[in-house]
Amino acid sequence: MARILVIHGPNLNLLGLREPEVYGQATLDQINQRLQELAGKLGLELRIVQSNHEGEIVEAVQQAPGWADLVIINPAAFTHYSIAIRDAIKAVLVPTIEVHLSHIAAREEFRHRSVIAPVAVGQISGFGADSYLLALHAAHYFLEARHR
Ligand code: DQA
Repeated sequence: MARILVIHGPNLNLLGLREPEVYGQATLDQINQRLQELAGKLGLELRIVQSNHEGEIVEAVQQAPGWADLVIINPAAFTHYSIAIRDAIKAVLVPTIEVHLSHIAAREEFRHRSVIAPVAVGQISGFGADSYLLALHAAHYFLEARHR
């Protein structure tokens, strides 16, 4: 069974309350529950973490190779400037899919640039909570394609 580590970055613990017009009504617990349900259907095992701290996210990425076949990460604000998270993703060689609820390219200019995107296998952005489910489908396809 393929194993996926999902990492939620800073302020995503506030989903549901935080700018619902931008990020939607779903809470992080609800999103995680949907992810677990879909993972069950796709035959994937999920581990999910959330942190507001850059160093903890770096450590979660560093520990990924011991367990995960693939990482799904919403680095939240760190997307736009964390070279430390980018370097960790590049270092561990675990394929990583970047996720955003909002369509970052259509928002303020400072959100247009992702320092994570160049080291990810791809990015899914703009589909609200469904971005995570699409990312899980993408992960499934990506891992299946390796065995074809
Ligand atoms: C976000 C977009 C980021 O620009 C923002 O800082 C977030 C959430 C998203 O999921 O749309 O915290 O990553």
